[in-house]
Amino acid sequence: MKYLLTLFLIFANALKSEIFNSNSIVQPEVGQDGMVVSQHYLATDVGYSILKSGGNAYDASIAVAFTLAVVLPRAGNIGGGGFMVMYDKKSDKTFSIDYREKAPEFATKDMFLNDDGSVNTKRATQGILSIGVPGTVYGMWEVHQKFGSLPWEDLIKPAINLAEKGFKISPFMTDVLNDQYEKLSNFKNFKRIFYSNYPVKIHQELKQPNLARTLKTISQNGAKGFYEGEVADLIAQYMNNNKGLISSSDLKNYRPVWRKPITGNYHEYTIVTMAPPSSGGIHIIQMLNILEKYNLSELGHNSPKYSALLSEVMKYAYADRSKYLGDPDFFKVPVKTLISKEYAEKINKKIQIGKITPANEILPGQAIQKESMDTTHFSIADKFGNLVGNTYTLNSTYGSGIIIDGTGILMNNEMDDFVSAPGIPNQFGLLGGEANKIEPYKRPLSSMTPTLVFKNNQPILATGSPGGSYIITAVLQFLLNTLNFKMEISDATVVPRLHHQWKPDVLMLEHGFDVNHAQTIKSLGQPIYFTDPRTSLESIELKNNFFYGFGDTRRPDSKAKGL
Ligand code: GLY
Repeated sequence: MKYLLTLFLIFANALKSEIFNSNSIVQPEVGQDGMVVSQHYLATDVGYSILKSGGNAYDASIAVAFTLAVVLPRAGNIGGGGFMVMYDKKSDKTFSIDYREKAPEFATKDMFLNDDGSVNTKRATQGILSIGVPGTVYGMWEVHQKFGSLPWEDLIKPAINLAEKGFKISPFMTDVLNDQYEKLSNFKNFKRIFYSNYPVKIHQELKQPNLARTLKTISQNGAKGFYEGEVADLIAQYMNNNKGLISSSDLKNYRPVWRKPITGNYHEYTIVTMAPPSSGGIHIIQMLNILEKYNLSELGHNSPKYSALLSEVMKYAYADRSKYLGDPDFFKVPVKTLISKEYAEKINKKIQIGKITPANEILPGQAIQKESMDTTHFSIADKFGNLVGNTYTLNSTYGSGIIIDGTGILMNNEMDDFVSAPGIPNQFGLLGGEANKIEPYKRPLSSMTPTLVFKNNQPILATGSPGGSYIITAVLQFLLNTLNFKMEISDATVVPRLHHQWKPDVLMLEHGFDVNHAQTIKSLGQPIYFTDPRTSLESIELKNNFFYGFGDTRRPDSKAKGL
């Protein structure tokens, strides 16, 4: 018996060491038949149940997206929009869908300007005019039509149950709600639903009966349940009564777009990511192209020289973002040039290791934003070989704050992702011009970057993050950490990240960087600033015939669950 036990332990240890990397600081979750990683444990559990019941990664993604609209209402949504990038095993092809919000028909380029030409930031970020025509429900419906294997109603049922029967608000959600009280309690429906008492208590129950009813209508009628009929009428009526712009015809005519993903190579890897109106995909490829020629391992992970180099590369990318990126249906984005190796080489000629180039002699008069940057990402892999990365958003935390009467639908404030006036930064401090000006039916530029990685034509990674303008640099560093520094995805996620977006000319360092590191970079001439975490990578790695998942500990409700 003792002999058998010893044999078993030897075998178990051998298996364990094949599964886990013993040098890793933090271990990921491991699965054999699939993996779900999202920013909320209840949504992850729903995705897991869908996979367990035989559903594929697309089914699970739809179910997770609807569930997040209930349990993570700060970013999960049916009143917002986003992007999904997919690898479909059966066709051995990659796909991406753009279900980003659109400007309504009557939107105008000057709609957020005061009479004196200054930008009315409050109008652009809070309240009725900040809302774009939502895309999430149609996006999920399209994915279901093309790739779904389970009935649509089965995918929405878990969200209906959670909205109807309620769930306990997590300590993290309690904190965020209490933190946002001053702003969000001004919105009557928001106050009634989320601040039935204030301060909100940990583990207090949240029921959303109106949202449950709306979800039931969507469950019965598909996309039409949102864009036509009773729900659409309530949205149009609310807009009409409150001087909003979204009309019945804006809703009825909304359609998501299947777009060819952006692809590029970094050493032996192929990166597949989101095309415009996301800026993220292009700039991830652009920055990887620039960085490919350096021996980053020699510089040392997160060393001052490495950080200064990343900072330089980020500045060039974000400078291009402000000029060349916008909705490709309205503006000719020079995609080929921006992601070409030749263009990267031109930028490389201007970069010197250990040297800092000031972004500009004059810093825009823009304070560093304290506001939490919301949006949410999930990654899902199934046993059939499909892989999904989805990032979607309401823009700010809890979007515009507006909940349409009688529907429970919390609306986005995505119109602020347009440029209200050239040279005036939006809430993320991002600048832009002609390419991203407001036009009817146009989609605002986004930073959301759901991304897949392939090696030898096999998918090996899925990742993405919330965090506004910080998303692109978070995904970049995750890719460098895994592909270049060969870190386990858990380590690649928890190590501190930095961010530079050209303007303001400040290198943002997460608190995990030490003061000496910061001083060294500062002494090179780069202004620096320590920041709280703003991003949250939710990633999956496929290797050794296992699925590895890791939910970023920066957002404590994140959870990975493997089958
Ligand atoms: N609303 C943030 C983004 O789309 O980048």
